[in-house]
Amino acid sequence: MESGAIQPTLDIDAVRADFPILNRPLPNGKRLVYLDSGASAQKPRQVLDAVLGCYETYYSNVHRGKSTLGLKVSESLEAVREKVRAFLNASSSDEILFTSGSTLALNVVALSWGRANVKAGDEIVVTPMEHHANLVPWQLLAKEIGARIRMLPMTDDGRLDLSRMDEAITSRTKLVAVTQLSNVLGTINPIKELADAAHAVGAVIVVDAAQSIPHLPTDVQELDVDFLVFSGHKLYAPTGIGVLYGRREFLEAMPPAFGGGNMIERVHDDHFTPAPLPAKFEAGTPPIAEAIGLGAAIDYVADIGLGRIAAHEHALTVYAHEQLKSLPGLVIYGPSPARKGGIISFTVQGAAAEDLNFLLDRNGIAVRHGHHCTMPLHERLGVPATIRASFGVYNTKADVDALVEGLLAARKRLRLT
Ligand code: ALA
Repeated sequence: MESGAIQPTLDIDAVRADFPILNRPLPNGKRLVYLDSGASAQKPRQVLDAVLGCYETYYSNVHRGKSTLGLKVSESLEAVREKVRAFLNASSSDEILFTSGSTLALNVVALSWGRANVKAGDEIVVTPMEHHANLVPWQLLAKEIGARIRMLPMTDDGRLDLSRMDEAITSRTKLVAVTQLSNVLGTINPIKELADAAHAVGAVIVVDAAQSIPHLPTDVQELDVDFLVFSGHKLYAPTGIGVLYGRREFLEAMPPAFGGGNMIERVHDDHFTPAPLPAKFEAGTPPIAEAIGLGAAIDYVADIGLGRIAAHEHALTVYAHEQLKSLPGLVIYGPSPARKGGIISFTVQGAAAEDLNFLLDRNGIAVRHGHHCTMPLHERLGVPATIRASFGVYNTKADVDALVEGLLAARKRLRLT
């Protein structure tokens, strides 16, 4: 993405007015400077209204009774499934499975596709920048089956080293699991190239789109991916709702990951027949109002335009890099803004990330500190913890300026020269 000015067409005041939490002071009276959307995004009024509207006017369980409310809420849930299908450009809404979030979705692929297809001696290729959610499920599977985990090499500036892709993706590879946007480095990975490389050796590709989904338009057919997961709560929707996209032929062939109500066609004393897609993978009562909220969140970002959101966040990322780089002892990890999304992780020489986080928080500045569920990546970076600022549609240059001022004040407080 090229750097550029914040698009004047994004009416940032109107956007910020949509988010009640941004328009009230914190308990200590400070203005909230929310730079932690990578952990979870704030919710606009439109999403809150949709959730409340469901509970207040048509809430009931779905896919069970044929009551007036039951039919209405089931129709509404299925309308969200269709909305997600269009959002991802999947070819059928049967390929859209509701889960509780990215983590569960990745575990479903490991438990179901993985157990059925990965054999002893096979290799599962991951990258050094994976969130633990896209690493530990594969480690569990590999241990159970006797398969092996391999890492794609990474460059010093935090990009996948595609020139060495053939070393990792080989005829032994069964599955390539990769994030579309690193939750620490911000790196945007070349998913189509990785999908082509996986398919060329007969492997499948699983994409963790948890961080990319609020920022990049995502077309599963164009990317040619086999599985893709995301969480609603990073897309301005409630927690507890997420999506697993799976290519139909895989989902048809896979056994259900979990058993219970809704996922069956027929149950006998000692066996059952599974329901057709997508119910086969949706055991138990789904997060109904949360899914309705996800539908409203998709409408919200679609109305603004993901391209416009991406341009806005990119301009902020460029600005933040420029401003932060001028601070003494501050090291930013990951590639240049041209190759990343709106995530900036850094350390300040002589200051523990935990102390910086504490001092920033006292000034109303919400960032995240720690290993961000990426211990292997932090080992490679050679630091135990980083501070992470991550942008959402509602952030402004004033938020970046507040971060810079907050860091300067923290330096003083910590008596850094
Ligand atoms: N996965 C989220 C993050 O990176 C929680 O902060």
